Amino acid sequence: MDEKQVKRKIVLVPVPAQGHVTPIMQLGKALHSKGFSITVIQTQYNRVSSSKDFSDFQFLTIPGTLTDSDLKSLGALQFLMKLNQICEETFKHCFGQLLQEQGSRDDIACVIYDEYMYFSAAAPKEFQLPSVIFSTTSATAFVCRSVLAKVNADKFLIDMKDPQVRDSLFPGLDPLRYKDLPTSAFGTLEDIIKLYSEAVNTRTASAVIINSASYLESSSLSRLQRELQVPVFPIGPLHLAACAPSSLLEEDRSCIEWLNKQKPKTVIYISLGSICLMESRDILEMARGLSNSNQPFLWVIRPGSIPASEWTESLPEEFSKLVSERGYIVKWAPQMEVLRHPAVGGFWSHCGWNSTLESIGEGVPMICRPITGDQKVNARYLESVWRVGVQLEGEMEKETVERVVKRLVVDEEGADMRKRAIDLKEKLEASVRSGGSSCSSLDDFVNSLQTKNF
Ligand code: UDX
Repeated sequence: MDEKQVKRKIVLVPVPAQGHVTPIMQLGKALHSKGFSITVIQTQYNRVSSSKDFSDFQFLTIPGTLTDSDLKSLGALQFLMKLNQICEETFKHCFGQLLQEQGSRDDIACVIYDEYMYFSAAAPKEFQLPSVIFSTTSATAFVCRSVLAKVNADKFLIDMKDPQVRDSLFPGLDPLRYKDLPTSAFGTLEDIIKLYSEAVNTRTASAVIINSASYLESSSLSRLQRELQVPVFPIGPLHLAACAPSSLLEEDRSCIEWLNKQKPKTVIYISLGSICLMESRDILEMARGLSNSNQPFLWVIRPGSIPASEWTESLPEEFSKLVSERGYIVKWAPQMEVLRHPAVGGFWSHCGWNSTLESIGEGVPMICRPITGDQKVNARYLESVWRVGVQLEGEMEKETVERVVKRLVVDEEGADMRKRAIDLKEKLEASVRSGGSSCSSLDDFVNSLQTKNF
């Protein structure tokens, strides 16, 4: 790469939420290693700090965006839609200033924006620069969003009320059932359809980058390639390709010392990611089931994740007693390090896409308890396509919890899942190595930028 190319800039626009910030910062690192300079333009809410890990990146802030109390009053879906309404002009202004600081317009290679930050498409269009959509969820979830964006809301709502329909396969999306589609607990079906229609609209984008690998989702990726009419680049799992620590919360490393004292492959690690909530009743049943299973457990309970409670203070005394016997609780863990730890035997997860990739990327089988959106799609794939997880459906009951934990870490069935997970891990590691499909796809993307193919 010559001197001129080294200076070309890529602008990244993340959604201000952990599950989206993490992969876009990894993408930034991967592209930085290919010789681009990186500018992150972010909202004031949940900003990534310019820590030593990103000292080579430039960070700019879109002025006057929404706050935490807006998120609480609007809910996640409305919050995102509002963000898109109010940021288009301010982003254009911010981007225009960045352009003026460059020697030439050509110094900006492209804008890569999270699919949910679709306001970002207008600025590069106005300045005639390429834009690229980054999908931080699975290719299958992208396909589902395209399908949901076109459903008749009234009919779909009636279908979803019929238990028989809910359990049946959705036409053309086998093995997904109606109930696995990425509807959301954070808003109405009308809102979700509106948001998905915006998110899957490629507008003027020249390409779509997906944090997935061909080996995992070849048919969904081919379908996207046929339907989107722009090139699709599956370049993941990005956490295996680039290290970019971007935790928005402080990690409690004491859990690693606790893990060091546990026997190999015995611990169930429990985490529901950065936005999901859990009812006290379910938490108590989980604790009872975990305790009855006799397996040690490491549990992340995020402050604010139990409604009407700062942390765990609203839970009954019984909870602390059950945890003190066999468990360890933290507010936020160094998740990748935990999953890599030899003591971890299984991951109880809400199946966010990052957690899914991180778990199979470490060969750890999963207990899948999806809560909303794409998590339901991922859980179904983990159980019935990749066969590295058990889905826990229906009411949370201590007996079911105990059974599912034993299936995963004690029974032969769990050992088979672990073997398949280790096989997946090896395939995924190969895909990001030189010559692997994701590595080649990233090179193709970079070549398209360098040869100005977009
Ligand atoms: C959100 C959505 O909920 C999810 O459905 C979508 O796929 C991505 O965006 P989130 O719920 O935060 O994500 O889950 P996930 O995608 O799993 O991302 C969580 C990230 O936080 C992971 O990278 C995980 O390593 C990290 N994490 C989680 C920690 O570092 N420590 C923890 O204690 C818990």
